[in-house]
Amino acid sequence: MENKLEKIVSLCKRRGFIFPGSEIYGGLSGTWDYGPLGAELVHNIKKLWWNHFVKQNEEMYGLASSVLMPEAAWRASGHLEGFADPMVECRKCKKKFRIDQLDGSKQNKCSECEGALGKPQSFNLMFKTNFGENVAYLRPEIAQGMFVNFKNVLDTMRPTLPFGIAQIGKAFRNEIAPRDFLFRAREFDLMEFEYFVKEAEWEKYFEHWRKEMWRWLELAGIDKKQISELEVSEEDRAHYSKRTIDFEFEYPFGRKELYGIAYRGDYDLARHQESSGADMRYIDPDSGEKFIPHVIEPTFGVGRTALAILLSAYHEDELGGEKRVLLKLSPKIAPVKIAVFPLVKNKPQLVAKASEVFTALRRSGAMAIAWDDIGNIGKRYRRQDEIGTPWCVTIDYQTLEDDTVTVRDRDTGEQSRHKIDELEKYFSIFL
Ligand code: GAP
Repeated sequence: MENKLEKIVSLCKRRGFIFPGSEIYGGLSGTWDYGPLGAELVHNIKKLWWNHFVKQNEEMYGLASSVLMPEAAWRASGHLEGFADPMVECRKCKKKFRIDQLDGSKQNKCSECEGALGKPQSFNLMFKTNFGENVAYLRPEIAQGMFVNFKNVLDTMRPTLPFGIAQIGKAFRNEIAPRDFLFRAREFDLMEFEYFVKEAEWEKYFEHWRKEMWRWLELAGIDKKQISELEVSEEDRAHYSKRTIDFEFEYPFGRKELYGIAYRGDYDLARHQESSGADMRYIDPDSGEKFIPHVIEPTFGVGRTALAILLSAYHEDELGGEKRVLLKLSPKIAPVKIAVFPLVKNKPQLVAKASEVFTALRRSGAMAIAWDDIGNIGKRYRRQDEIGTPWCVTIDYQTLEDDTVTVRDRDTGEQSRHKIDELEKYFSIFL
């Protein structure tokens, strides 16, 4: 299993999905840069999520709030005080370790240099910065942007309960020990919404969104057999949560959190009301009653989603007596949807026809199309299988006679013939 992660890390680097952050300077620990295919993959994940959770729910409102927020907001949210991991520092080499990640048998010794470990301390995970007199923090969770804009959304959109505020954006955490590829980074994207409800209805909506999270797993192409729910105990819950269920995934390095759903009560809005003086109450249009709504929060890390998708999609098999590596990505997620090949590159008529098909499919706008005329067809298929391209379209001699092409399916290797002017419609069913 560990080996599978190494294979994916290597594939991601070799094929332009994911590179170590700032690699030419030796890398910056806990940061990852998405290459041309990775950027496309992540864009597709976000687009799918936004369509599924925001566009298809009329009571969901989008937001794009700032990464920088003032100290007062983080004091109110409880992060200044509570967003910390217990850690110890090696007295000799100064390396920091999370206490929960220490090797049980060597609790007092540094695993790097055998030096003595210091006393346990609380280490706040927020990145602090200043401008002028002001102290600000890079947000460690995107949720607070939605809470501080609750009143703005209420006043401008006039929603009625239940309704949600959703956003996708960067979060930053000064993790003591970033590790396991995209799993624990210092900078990562989150997709999240706050779903505001009447207190009496929180359980109903908690269940509703819990089930919807399973639907999302299916849509994204994450292997549901590798997912299990964990009811998080009171002592392990975040400071704001009254109930949390983690969706855990079987990563090669162990079963760990992929997503979470939390019931945050009215904790955040009440704290911001108290601290800022802004009135965070909702007025019920029927009864005229004024109250602070409660909130259900499903949260999805983008990097962990990409990792779970890659781990679910990675396969090695044999096709036509040849070994191959393939990513069985859903067509909606795949960075390249279709690769177009002229059968051979030294026949100008074939190349001209293939380039016509390539341009027409590209113009349709809905698809990312690749061109490949290097090496034999078998090699081209292998290259596309490895990056998860669902279809390869080949322009051959028959095309010149009847305007049909072959479409080869990534997973089965089967080929079918289609008329060029019906291609766009054929592919659009899956996209
Ligand atoms: N607003 C709730 C919240 O931020 P969280 O469990 O602290 O909850 C949300 O984080 C999600 O962010 C996690 O479920 C996970 O997918 C992702 N995540 C958390 N820490 C991460 C890290 N260091 N690197 C990558 N993803 C991370």
